[in-house]
Amino acid sequence: MLTSASNAAIGVFDSGVGGLSIAAAIRQMLPHENIIYVADSANAPYGGKPEHFVLQRCQAIVEYLMAQQVKLIVVACNTATLTCIAKLRALYPIEFVGVEPGIKPALNASQSGIVGVLATHNTIKSEQYQQLVARLKTHNKVLSQACDGLVEKIEAGEFDSLATQQLIQQYVTPLVSQGADQIVLGCTHYGFLGQQIRCIAGDDVQLVNTSDAIARQTLAVLERNDKINRCQEGGKTKLFSSRCNAEFLGICELLWPKEFEQVHEFTD
Ligand code: DGL
Repeated sequence: MLTSASNAAIGVFDSGVGGLSIAAAIRQMLPHENIIYVADSANAPYGGKPEHFVLQRCQAIVEYLMAQQVKLIVVACNTATLTCIAKLRALYPIEFVGVEPGIKPALNASQSGIVGVLATHNTIKSEQYQQLVARLKTHNKVLSQACDGLVEKIEAGEFDSLATQQLIQQYVTPLVSQGADQIVLGCTHYGFLGQQIRCIAGDDVQLVNTSDAIARQTLAVLERNDKINRCQEGGKTKLFSSRCNAEFLGICELLWPKEFEQVHEFTD
């Protein structure tokens, strides 16, 4: 049940800039919606931090978004979704949309029956992820690869550096050589390295990204609750960050051109 008005914003958050890939897909599908995006970049990455820390950060962000009367919260982070969305749902009277690695669509599309998943440590070790894999892998193979260091490179705006390329090589090549013909981008940050990953994986491998599916789910929740913003003006995205500086804004402008005028400070 969504209690805020239809013209209230949609809250979207991530440990950093990764969730902008989801926010951009929502903007594409729902052009009239206002979005409040929170990047907890001062605390990124979440992928190797203790579960209680990730929960505590998510709670601070959710409370911040709720104080701004958002109508729905999109947890645009696989790590946060898999480690704590159930707890957030139990704690707060607001609807959440979460994101998890698209293993099912990858298996459906796979010819080899082998799919690779790139994700963070916390995502892969979470009980929810392990259950998802156990449920889906019956006649197939799911190769899970934790990608330490990659989120840091994206947060630093290092998309094409040699070090980033080496990390991608280190994580992607073993999946392809074991027969994976689908690579699931199980972290919202990795969508911004699609081109670089494709280059190393080769043309026979498909990348699976869930951004559009999350945007469709957001639309479905709003429709179900009759909370679509009917205003005909284009929606705006207000950007908040715990690393509120010009460098951060520059990276966001690179990832989502023409969307932001400024970045506001997020503190809790
Ligand atoms: N973008 C995030 C995810 O989808 C978080 C990555 C991190 O902070 O480690 O998992």
